[in-house]
Amino acid sequence: MPSWAAQIETDIDGVLLTEAEIISRVKAMAREISLFYQQQDIGSITVIGVLRGAFIFLADLVRQMELEVTIDFIAVSSYGQAATTSGAVRILKDVAEPLDGKHVLIIEDIIDSGLTLNYLCAMLRARQPASLKTCSFLSKPSRRQIELNADFCGFEIEDKFVVGYGLDFAGKYRHLPYIAVLKPATYQ
Ligand code: PRP
Repeated sequence: MPSWAAQIETDIDGVLLTEAEIISRVKAMAREISLFYQQQDIGSITVIGVLRGAFIFLADLVRQMELEVTIDFIAVSSYGQAATTSGAVRILKDVAEPLDGKHVLIIEDIIDSGLTLNYLCAMLRARQPASLKTCSFLSKPSRRQIELNADFCGFEIEDKFVVGYGLDFAGKYRHLPYIAVLKPATYQ
């Protein structure tokens, strides 16, 4: 079994976003989101993290928000072990609470084709929240299969296979505190 350092050396090409860049951007996003709701006199929101990828971003983001926040999670699977989406979204775990009349903010780690978030928005809108907004840490605009952008977005990136800060490759590397680019040889 190779050491952890050796695994990183073998699989990873380089760092795309450092830990310091991420911390700074997430703080700015929390300010922007807090202000957006405060300006409409909305003091309380429900954030819904899309598992598993969004758990680290959500945890960092909500701790910087100046609003009353309740937290729920939904688990979906669209990719499985493959590197590209099949387009099929499966709900593995639904939210725990009703959403009617609530100000809901969906938190994603990444928007790629846009199919997952599009599906989730339609599904959650049917539950009649008072408002529904979306927030994604990363976005790959060049990969879109439908026209969809998050209301709040951390970074737009090129079409490279990235891991870390919640994002995985075959279950690995979610816990890296930075965003790294995977070597093509690793996933091809
Ligand atoms: C990833 C990511 C988004 C979705 C984005 O989830 O977390 O939910 O894919 O892709 P799309 O815009 O092409 O639909 P994944 O199925 O890999 O599950 P995970 O969050 O558990 O890693």
